[in-house]
This record gives sequence, structure tokens and C-alpha cells, in this order.
Amino acid sequence: MRKKIVAGNWKMNKTAEEALILASEVANMVKDEVSTDVTVVIASPSLYLSTLTKYAEPVVNLGISAQNCHQKASGAYTGEISAPMLKSIGVEYVILGHSERRQYFGETNEQLAEKVNISLENGLTPIFCCGESLEQRNAPGYLEFVASQLTDSLFHLSVEDFGKVVIAYEPIWAIGTGVTASSDQAQEMHAFLRAHVATKYGQEVADNTSILYGGSCNEKNAPELFSREDIDGGLIGGASLKSREFVNIAKSF
Ligand code: G3P
Repeated sequence: MRKKIVAGNWKMNKTAEEALILASEVANMVKDEVSTDVTVVIASPSLYLSTLTKYAEPVVNLGISAQNCHQKASGAYTGEISAPMLKSIGVEYVILGHSERRQYFGETNEQLAEKVNISLENGLTPIFCCGESLEQRNAPGYLEFVASQLTDSLFHLSVEDFGKVVIAYEPIWAIGTGVTASSDQAQEMHAFLRAHVATKYGQEVADNTSILYGGSCNEKNAPELFSREDIDGGLIGGASLKSREFVNIAKSF
């Protein structure tokens, strides 16, 4: 049975005081309100991860995620953070390949394959992002383009390692725009990606792969999105910055 996951990507938001208040509120709500069938993940800015892992410890279905990591274990990479560092403070997940990092920091599929490898080597669960631009969506081949992001960055993995990866489909045209993909659009892509995984790793692995939707997901549209067969949860941006709405999304299954 594949995991239901709702992950909150805070991106570059919250001061230290705001972050601790938000994390504390979410941890208490998750403990009191969210079924343990659902895993909730908080991806805060790196500055706060060490503190947030302590908030998550007592809550069995709350995990902490980084928003990125470098593809090397250590070295002269000023400003970067490594997978061993994340492991050393108890971080469990790492978002990789977010479209904003691909766009603003030029991350390539090949670099992301290296980031996936070192994350798995350090016991982190990659939340691997993929998705198409509006231009690509409006042209033939958008399904195949997104599938190629999995092929290029994940399909070198063994069956065992691939089984540890969470996939997040985030149509770029829906991120931060308030223009959410319809549940039909999201379901179409999720089913296509699951079938693509099955061609490489077989149906059992594909059926056990969690595929999250991200892109203007909120407490109003989450119930319909999460009701679809191949949508296993969400990667939430703006709505994760409000504890009540974020936890309401986690309760939407
Ligand atoms: O990683 C999640 C993010 O890209 C989605 O952002 O604000 O559209 O929910 P938002």
C-alpha cells in the first residue's frame, strides 16, 4: 500500500520566531487530528531544520524535509548543504528538482540524478519534483516530457532504491498562480507517470510509488484532487504557511 503524504514546502519564508510558532502549531494539530495513515512533512528553510526535527520527534506521522541538498558529500561549495549534514540532524526527506531550483539555479536532470543518489546513500527520502511549463502543456508531448524527467534522474536506480523515492508532479503553470490543475489534468499525468514507472520497474513497484500533486493546492480543492486514483497527496506551497489550512489539507483524504 503506497503512502499518503502531504508535504509543506515553506520555500524562503518565515523568520525564526514565525517558523517555530508555525511548526509547533502544525505538530500539535497533526498529533491531535491527522490519521496516522497520512504522513505529514514540513520542508522549512535549512536554518530551522535542526530545531524542527525535535518538534517532529514525538509525532509519529510528522517528518522534516530539506528543500535541497548538494550532490557532493562535502567540499568547497560555499553556502551549500550536504546530505550527510541533513542526516546528522535527523532530517528524513529532501525535496529535489523543484522547478524553482531548475529555473533559478540551472539544476539539470543529470545533477539531480547525483543528488538523488547521495540522498539515498544517506538514508534520506527524496521528494523528486517534475512538471511542465505552460508552453509545454499547450504543445503535443507534455506527458512524455515530464516522464523523461523521471527517466533521466531516477531510472538508473535499482528497484530497491527507486522504491524509496516519492514523486511530486508540479505543473509549473500552477505553482504560485492560483491556477490549479483540474483533477482530470492531474490524474492524467499521475496515471501516465505511474505507467511509465511500471515499464521500467514493474507494476508492483509502480503501484507502491507515492505520487503527490503540487501547484496551488489548497483546503478547497484538495479533497477532489486526493480522491483521484493516482493522486497520493500533495506538495503544498503557500497554503502550508498557515497551520490550520495546511492540516485541513492533510485531513482531505
Ligand atoms: O513545492 C510546492 C510548491 O511549488 C507549490 O506552490 O504555492 O502553488 O502551493 P503553491
